Amino acid sequence: MSFVIKPPVDINPSEITPEHVYQTRRRFMQSVSAAGLVSSVPAAALHRGWMDSKGFTPAPPSEDAITPRGYATSFNNFYEFGTDKNDPAELASRLTTEPWSVEVSGLVGKPGTYDIEDLLAGVDLEERIYRLRCVEAWSMVIPWIGFPLKTLIQRFNPLGSAKYVAFTTLYRPEEMPGQRSYFSSIKYPYVEALRLDEAFHPLAIMAVGMYGKVLPNQNGAPLRLVVPWKYGFKSIKSIVRIELTSKQPPTTWNLAASNEYGFYANVNPTVQHPRWSQASERRLPSSLFNGNRKIPTRMYNGYEEVASLYTGMNLRLNY
Ligand code: MTE
Repeated sequence: MSFVIKPPVDINPSEITPEHVYQTRRRFMQSVSAAGLVSSVPAAALHRGWMDSKGFTPAPPSEDAITPRGYATSFNNFYEFGTDKNDPAELASRLTTEPWSVEVSGLVGKPGTYDIEDLLAGVDLEERIYRLRCVEAWSMVIPWIGFPLKTLIQRFNPLGSAKYVAFTTLYRPEEMPGQRSYFSSIKYPYVEALRLDEAFHPLAIMAVGMYGKVLPNQNGAPLRLVVPWKYGFKSIKSIVRIELTSKQPPTTWNLAASNEYGFYANVNPTVQHPRWSQASERRLPSSLFNGNRKIPTRMYNGYEEVASLYTGMNLRLNY
């Protein structure tokens, strides 16, 4: 993973949602929610814009300032589209996300290949304002729209022997130029996994939208994981496969450099990355003019309610 921080380039000003517009939309959603008008996602076509006409439960106000949308959609890690932070915004529009299905396999009572419309049928969407802390020592605050991962997994009737859940990203080299690169530092498809009790923690969500709209391709459309207490690389994008297993599954960055990227990848300022410190982070947007907005990194990215998942574990060995 590169660790050069470059400012986002080529941001179309129309992409940046001004704070007052975003707050007005939030207030509108709050009033819709209060009036009991928030509905579940019906088993309708997941077409672009479907979320504009649907409700979601808005998040309570956040103590963190929300990152302007233009940064969150133009400064991305999605190696399938290239290693530069602006590659995904430039190239991900080629990705076809309709139709989309997810194969569910392994230790479940209801394996199968499910259309995304069926996966989202009856799901109540919620907004969650989460800090995303990248292993490269920058962070953003993003209003995601999604639903607890637990509710999805439970629909497949996990067997008692299931201990882990593994996720796989789409492999489609004809639409994902990074997958065609001979010089790639990682192998495709991108894979990630969680322990099942981590996956069942209420903070872990499957996201389908952000900033009040359906996910842009560069952020992992149409379905991605968001695990806010772990480094960003655990939050795998554009998921096509979910498998429940009894053994710890392989994960992409751990396979690429196991001394740098562990399976757990919990945000932990006391465990140094071999090539740089993890004690602080740059909250984007940052620049020399605002002192680079360097802030101390918090244990579990500040989500200390997950600590009991790791009781008795040595978090230096299990980094
Ligand atoms: N998922 C896939 N399939 N491919 C990737 O390269 N990058 C990860 C994660 N999920 C990545 C991925 C990393 S390193 C980060 S920091 C986050 O996505 C970035 O998410 P964002 O671009 O929505 O901010």
